[in-house]
Amino acid sequence: MKHSMLSIKNISPKKVSALSALLIAIPLGITLFFLNTVWWVALLISTVFGLGSFGIIYFFFQHFIYRQIKLIFKLISQTKATKREEFYYQELLPKKSIEDVQAEVEQWAIQKREEIEILKQNEHFRKEFLQNLSHELKTPIFAIQGYTETLLNGAVNNPDVNLRFLQNSSRNIDRLVNLLNDLDEISKLESGSITLSLSSFQMQELVRDVFESLEIKIRKKNIHAFIKKGCEIPKSVVADKEKIRQVLINIIDNAIKYGRENGIIEAGLYTVDDKLVLIEITDDGYGISPDYISRIFERFFRADQTRSRGVGGSGLGLSICKHIIEAHGQSIQVRSKPDIGTTIGFSLPLK
Ligand SMILES: Nc1ncnc2c1ncn2[C@@H]1O[C@H](COP(=O)(O)OP(=O)(O)O)[C@@H](O)[C@H]1O
Ligand SMILES: [Mg+2]
Repeated sequence: MKHSMLSIKNISPKKVSALSALLIAIPLGITLFFLNTVWWVALLISTVFGLGSFGIIYFFFQHFIYRQIKLIFKLISQTKATKREEFYYQELLPKKSIEDVQAEVEQWAIQKREEIEILKQNEHFRKEFLQNLSHELKTPIFAIQGYTETLLNGAVNNPDVNLRFLQNSSRNIDRLVNLLNDLDEISKLESGSITLSLSSFQMQELVRDVFESLEIKIRKKNIHAFIKKGCEIPKSVVADKEKIRQVLINIIDNAIKYGRENGIIEAGLYTVDDKLVLIEITDDGYGISPDYISRIFERFFRADQTRSRGVGGSGLGLSICKHIIEAHGQSIQVRSKPDIGTTIGFSLPLK
């Protein structure tokens, strides 16, 4: 804001009052002088009038205009003023020019606009979440409905299909159960009501455990899963073991699903700065297109919708992983090249 001595735009109420008082006192003094009043009487009267008008005008400013402004301030903040605000209204606000007050109100408006933007965005996420969710629920439920109706309409007595239809229904029910478990997990993680139960454990052991628990899937695709050469030296971390197990299961399960038949999955473990352990799971599968790579940690996101759908999954796995790793105060990253492979890496504090 420009300030100059002559500018009357930005002057404070006190100066406005003084100026107005002068405008009253000076003509009065001159008039009295020309009406042949003794000069010192004229000066005295005009001084008294000047001071009086200054007092009255200033009083009106304080008690009427600023009372209104104070009211507006209280209204827009919609709260009872705190001690500090009360001091601000009483002492600081009246010293400001109307322009300063306006600037403050504009600042307030900008802040409110930003808050509204965030609310709108959240609303958008909520809508999108519901849309995704109902979409995810639809597919298996409609499938179960179809099989059940067909069975009821007579297929139950057809030995060629009855068992297959029941198996298909059962698979879709499993899919629903998995989805519900994932949703349960993510809502717990997002509400922040999850507490980590930290312990120290050896990372290689856990990786081998998870490879073992996924043995059937790994064999089915004839994948070779192993800990990278040179990464065998035991590394212990401090973390929530069961949650990290879940993270590894999600990442390795993805590596199997989106990996090649007869491919490899390799786990690398590295110490960083004597403080962290970096765990990387690498596959030589389809990879992720650069267009999608920044989005794979989003809820429900699948890079290649159709192909991913073929292998199931809710699209919640990686967002659960991200939540868990971030709850440990660490980060999770991805590197990927289409048709070359994908590496997902995360860090944990070294014991
Ligand atoms: N190792 C991987 N190779 C290729 N694509 C992957 C890999 N891991 C994850 N993705 C992509 O990221 C998406 C999100 O993964 P995720 O959240 O685990 O969901 P889901 O496994 O249920 O599809 C997957 O649908 C897939 O498109
Ligand atoms: Mg997954």
